[in-house]
Amino acid sequence: MTAEPTETRTIYLDHAATSFPKPDGVAEAMARAIGQASNAGRSGHQLALEGARILFRARRALGSLLGVADPRRVILTSGCTEALNTVIHGLDYPAGASIVTTDMEHNAVARPLRALETRLGVRIVTVSTDADGRLPPGALAAAVDETTRLVVVQQASNLTGVLQDLAQVRRECAGVPLLVDAAQSAGRVPIDVDGLGLDFVAVPGHKGLMGPGGIGALCLGVNAPLPDPLMQGGTGSNSEEDRQPELLPDRFEAGTPNVPGAAGLTEGIAWVLARGVEAIADHEQSLMAQFLEGLDALSGVRETGAADTTRRVAVASLVFEGLDPGEVAHHLERYHQILVRSGLHCAPWAHRKLGTFPRGSVRLSFGPTHSSQDVQTVLKALATLVKHGVA
Ligand SMILES: Cc1ncc(COP(=O)(O)O)c(C=O)c1O
Repeated sequence: MTAEPTETRTIYLDHAATSFPKPDGVAEAMARAIGQASNAGRSGHQLALEGARILFRARRALGSLLGVADPRRVILTSGCTEALNTVIHGLDYPAGASIVTTDMEHNAVARPLRALETRLGVRIVTVSTDADGRLPPGALAAAVDETTRLVVVQQASNLTGVLQDLAQVRRECAGVPLLVDAAQSAGRVPIDVDGLGLDFVAVPGHKGLMGPGGIGALCLGVNAPLPDPLMQGGTGSNSEEDRQPELLPDRFEAGTPNVPGAAGLTEGIAWVLARGVEAIADHEQSLMAQFLEGLDALSGVRETGAADTTRRVAVASLVFEGLDPGEVAHHLERYHQILVRSGLHCAPWAHRKLGTFPRGSVRLSFGPTHSSQDVQTVLKALATLVKHGVA
């Protein structure tokens, strides 16, 4: 027997898909950009110059958040997926080349890797993570050899929030280009591209950076080999040439840029910087600790991540005994106004690894403005659900 829907505040637990709501200034900054700026880098008039300034501010904000000293090494993309594809498809792969990755990667990595395997015969070497989804010390080093042209590792899992140790990863593949998928970690834990000597870091603007969809970035390390761009086209620079300019960021930014998106992203990052990434990370960890402790007291539900909350962002994947993940998600929305995501979360590799393929799980992902009271409300709803089922 289930309760009838009651009037309660909606709790959005799908921050791993996209952060919501956005900070107040984001939509306003986008509206201002539409009203006060035109196509950046093309014309020389005041509206175009304002467009260029907006792009520069977004690059500078991303650089200061992610530890990239030179804003020209911050390439604006349509999102994390484009940034990952730019590197994976753009590097040089001689015959016999391999790419090393992990069994926890998202389809934004898995699919371009498979496409490259099919197109060029590049060998994909998948390193097994441990039971917690972390790379065991030495595992990456053992997989890297003279054929390795790229290592691709996510920083935080979109299923369990488990963080890899990027310093360890960097050490174990020293000398090989390293691409970090920071989709779930940017804005949620500190990242230092230059300090750690990372070559490529791909970030979305719409998750932890609190900006709008349709914009993200590829950060290039100081010594990163430059991939071929995915696209060629107008940049407003070197227009006498019919070849793509080499200069950064133009080499990678063909076509009209997303000026309103950049304005919104800068505002989102300003919000993150004002709170402080360390403070956001601490807050998420305490929410997770409280949530996992409460979950321990419930029977009939299992969490698939690591018990150690100090190396996780606030994402948890749950499996309910005898209940379908889709039904659980539907029930949580209908009866408790809790919004979650069920299924495979674009991560079939990770679900296989966690033993939750093909049904998937129910993912709860908290955000920076959730409170301990929200966690309690969610735990209460889960307790009701495991007691009464979804019928
Ligand atoms: C781990 C991971 N990588 C990559 C992506 C792709 O991000 P986007 O769809 O914003 O390009 C996601 C999106 O959920 C993700 O969770």
